Amino acid sequence: MKYLFVLGKNPILSKAEIYQYLKNRKIDFEFVQNFENILEVETENDISKIIDNLGGSIKLAVPCDLNDIFRKDKIRIGLSVYPRSKSKYKKILKEMVKISRQNNSKITFSSPKFHGHTELKHFEVLNLLKRGGTEIIYFDSKFYITVGVHNPFDFKHRDIERPRQRPIYSIPPRLARIMVNLTTLPGQKLLDPFCGIGTILQEALISGMEVFGLDKNKNCLKDAKINLNWLGFEKFHLIEGDATQLSKYINEKIDGIVTEPYLGPPLKSNPTDLQAHKILRNIEILFENFLSESKKILKNNSRICLVSPLFVTKSNKIKKIDMTSLADKIGLKVISLLPGHVSIVDAEDRHRTKREIWLLEK
Ligand SMILES: C[S@@+](CC[C@H](N)C(=O)[O-])C[C@H]1O[C@@H](n2cnc3c(N)ncnc32)[C@H](O)[C@@H]1O
Repeated sequence: MKYLFVLGKNPILSKAEIYQYLKNRKIDFEFVQNFENILEVETENDISKIIDNLGGSIKLAVPCDLNDIFRKDKIRIGLSVYPRSKSKYKKILKEMVKISRQNNSKITFSSPKFHGHTELKHFEVLNLLKRGGTEIIYFDSKFYITVGVHNPFDFKHRDIERPRQRPIYSIPPRLARIMVNLTTLPGQKLLDPFCGIGTILQEALISGMEVFGLDKNKNCLKDAKINLNWLGFEKFHLIEGDATQLSKYINEKIDGIVTEPYLGPPLKSNPTDLQAHKILRNIEILFENFLSESKKILKNNSRICLVSPLFVTKSNKIKKIDMTSLADKIGLKVISLLPGHVSIVDAEDRHRTKREIWLLEK
């Protein structure tokens, strides 16, 4: 069976999430097509429900025959054409009307509301589905029917409506969910040694993991507890402590670590080469100490997914941590997130400290 994923705003990272999610579950699959934000996956397994578990995919669709769709007398259709093309959109719309007439079916169309778009946004699809409608996707001369759509309001709700907020230091729930999926399986023990107000822990709890959070800041831990309780969770472990001495606090073997450590001070503009060098030197010491300790408490073959900082300096140079050498020194291995990608940057132009995502293995 073929499945078509419409990927989110960082398609490479979204693709890595799907790749690792399926591999971690020992599902045989093949990426059959990949174009911009579209990925087609072939597998014998039923993966039609996985969209709710992913952080980086917008829609999930399966191949369909329009003659089957237009069997009903009346039908509400939302058409999405990828990649964006006004002329193709008009052509397909005409073709659909023709097929519906041949089937004596009356179609009402819900069109994309955004000017120039030929694809429905996720909230437009959610509205369409609520009204009993169907989204048809046209890609590479084939038709697909949407079977799952990401609900952006759930992630937004957990982000901006949490009782405790720390906007500039918190990781977006979408990214936290992706990192959890890159690392562990439901039922496993996951640790965030720099847990802050608990964003990674919340996404891991929702995904069914047993979670451990550590932070040196007592107030962050209080806030993490309030946030996790607000989501309805009561069972989790929060520990006040220093991540560079992890093995002092964690007495059991952990299946995976997912974390965004301290990434340096907030920056108002791009740093100079010297500033970036100084920040990175301090962070490298922190990372070396916490990764050495992580190795002690992790089960063999288990993973660490972590964020490191990347700077574009005033003189337009890229300054970042040499994670491969650091991991080598500690006796950990950097593994590819996706074939051909040992790290993936997740950042917008406006971000002075950019996030680089890594996957290490013990
Ligand atoms: C970038 S924030 C993590 C934010 C978190 N992912 C969230 O969404 O709230 C880094 C956190 O690391 C904590 N921290 C810094 N150094 C630490 C250390 N040596 N041991 C434990 N926690 C530390 C800080 O208190 C801060 O909460």
